[in-house]
Amino acid sequence: MELERLLRSQGFGSRADCRALVRAGRVRFGDEICDDPFQEVIPDGLTFSVDGTPWLFRPQAYLVLHKPADYECSHKPRFHPSVYSLLPKPLVTRGVQAVGRLDEDTTGLLLLSDDGQFIHRCTSPKKRVAKIYEVTTKHPVDEAQIAALLGGVLLNDDPEPVAALACEKIADNLLRLTITEGKYHQVKRMIAAVSNRVEGLHRSAIGDYALPADLRPGEWRWLEASDLARIETPLETA
Ligand code: URA
Repeated sequence: MELERLLRSQGFGSRADCRALVRAGRVRFGDEICDDPFQEVIPDGLTFSVDGTPWLFRPQAYLVLHKPADYECSHKPRFHPSVYSLLPKPLVTRGVQAVGRLDEDTTGLLLLSDDGQFIHRCTSPKKRVAKIYEVTTKHPVDEAQIAALLGGVLLNDDPEPVAALACEKIADNLLRLTITEGKYHQVKRMIAAVSNRVEGLHRSAIGDYALPADLRPGEWRWLEASDLARIETPLETA
């Protein structure tokens, strides 16, 4: 593949942008500047740097971001910065999208990818990929609330009840709630449906993949094949 085309596939702009980037001597293989945009390269496993930042060629992008509070999962945020502002520009240019949205006040595990099929598999309720939340509640949680969440609660715009796949009381005002859908404000509305209220919401895991403990709020990293396999592991119980 020509270098110019490879750079374009990785989000470095239009073909003309990429050609200019190479001709300006900003692209290197190891210590060697490559100033020929039409140089043939083998994409698989290719490492290169642009302005000193190292990159590995990736046919598709799969990322995990530790979403901080007060960020919006939108390209056109209204009140807060966008989560996309936390990523290097080439990742946004190549079209990574949040895999389901978290509310602006929700923190924790946010996946992003430019693989539409992966996004669909993670978000489709039919695939039953578990989303695990730590829910801080206003009122102490009781057994009746847990039973109702597990049995299914009606959300106002929905004819069918939605049930938690798992629900565990961690402390008086802290629940670990597992759901397999991603309806609008789903956790907040489920908790409201049992006459309680969400005071804090943090997504700690998706499938069998937990937010890495050393990934601080606002930080992101690439996901590897083993992470992707864990994400898509269906959890029937938790
Ligand atoms: N459910 C909610 O209510 N909010 C989120 O951000 C995620 C799930």
